[in-house]
Amino acid sequence: MTQNSNQRDGFSGRLGIIAAAAGSAIGLGNIWKFPYITGEYGGAAFILVYLICIAFIGLPIMLAEFVVGRRAQKNAIGAFKAEAPGSKWFLTGALGIITAFILLSFYGVVSGWTLHYLGLSALNSLADQTPEQLGNVFGTFIADPWLPVLWQVLFMALCVAVVLGGVKNGIERYSKILMPLLLVILIVLAIRSLTLPGAAKGIEFLFSPDFSKLNMEAVLAAMGHAFFSLSLGMGTMITYGSYIGKQENLGVTAVQVSVADTVIALIAGLAIFPAVFAFGIEPSSGPGLVFITLPNVFGQMPFGTGFSMLFFALLAVAALTSAISILEVIVAYLDEEFGWKRKTSTLVVAGMVTLVGALLSQGNGILSWLKLPFLISGEVSHMNIFDWFISLSDQLLPIGGFFIALFVGWKLDKKAVADELSNDGKLTIAYLAAYRITLKLIAPAAIAFVFLASIFGWFSP
Ligand code: TRP
Repeated sequence: MTQNSNQRDGFSGRLGIIAAAAGSAIGLGNIWKFPYITGEYGGAAFILVYLICIAFIGLPIMLAEFVVGRRAQKNAIGAFKAEAPGSKWFLTGALGIITAFILLSFYGVVSGWTLHYLGLSALNSLADQTPEQLGNVFGTFIADPWLPVLWQVLFMALCVAVVLGGVKNGIERYSKILMPLLLVILIVLAIRSLTLPGAAKGIEFLFSPDFSKLNMEAVLAAMGHAFFSLSLGMGTMITYGSYIGKQENLGVTAVQVSVADTVIALIAGLAIFPAVFAFGIEPSSGPGLVFITLPNVFGQMPFGTGFSMLFFALLAVAALTSAISILEVIVAYLDEEFGWKRKTSTLVVAGMVTLVGALLSQGNGILSWLKLPFLISGEVSHMNIFDWFISLSDQLLPIGGFFIALFVGWKLDKKAVADELSNDGKLTIAYLAAYRITLKLIAPAAIAFVFLASIFGWFSP
């Protein structure tokens, strides 16, 4: 690479930033998780709470991460060390690195599932199966000791290939190709779904709220998912923020990325629920929704095989641009703080994450007898190691976000924040006062409340 040694690798411009940051945000969270939790928590009312969480907690925290990253020009830990030297704040970054490791280890596994299903669709082996058979296909597959690991390794290799290219020539370049592709596939699927006879019920499910279904558990799920979906709480947006040019408007960028992420989640809902209702399937079928329920829908559709392949290709693409952003958090940290070469860090981290992920995936198979205790809703439940790590990361992200909000709200110099948001006074930022209050009080209080309420089961029936 022809690069000046004192010039940091970064995004080339606005389009690259949006593609990469939206690429990080838009992932399995939008197309796999958002539809199934929306289904479980009853539809429109849950979506409304989710939108509130995005606007009042997610968006301000994304902007806070951008501020810290671009100001410090450093990775998730280095940024805290640079902005608050000699303090314990770097622990927020350290928590982020740990969370990134945990998250990527299972994210790679689920991403591998999408590749397997792409293969199954291509071989036409999902067609002509009853719902029970499709359930068995999924159950047998994830319990297999080898197959999920094989696909996971392949997926992680793709991540390595992208991240080895660096920020501009790897992450940005692939995001710019893959994100438009994702949008096109998703729109094709949504049109197909919306034009099925009986699609209206799905639209009603998504947009006419039934508040009787809303409880504290749903509120927590909405908040946790806002963090997950926007890639917040563990330094992804600090790291990406550090690659954003000094002339870019951070506030506008954060709004664009948040809106893009939300719109894609809603379109994913429009691609899935009308079809689910049109074929009389239960919307609340949980994590298996896109792996069991949708193939069932495709099976009853003209050109179902084609649509099925499109859908799982879409999932894989979305997963890839997200997984690379998680990997980059750890890679940037090792490169900058310990002087590792990108090649070394990428291979070592991906190798370790793949190993841990392969072990976790056995929670659905060989190790399914191993149950770990987890405190949620005031009760200790026992789950397999795969689900345990997913639940753990659901709790770690809001904790990270809480501290990032406090850091920018209280610790960072007032003027530093204003300078970063206004590009040293070149932009007028009418929202500054409101933003301060949000970061100092509103977001942290909301996170703390929802977090404690969910763990201890306050207001739960
Ligand atoms: N946002 C991605 C998704 O919706 C996942 C993701 C990527 C992520 N980077 C992250 C989640 C950082 C939390 C933190 O699938």
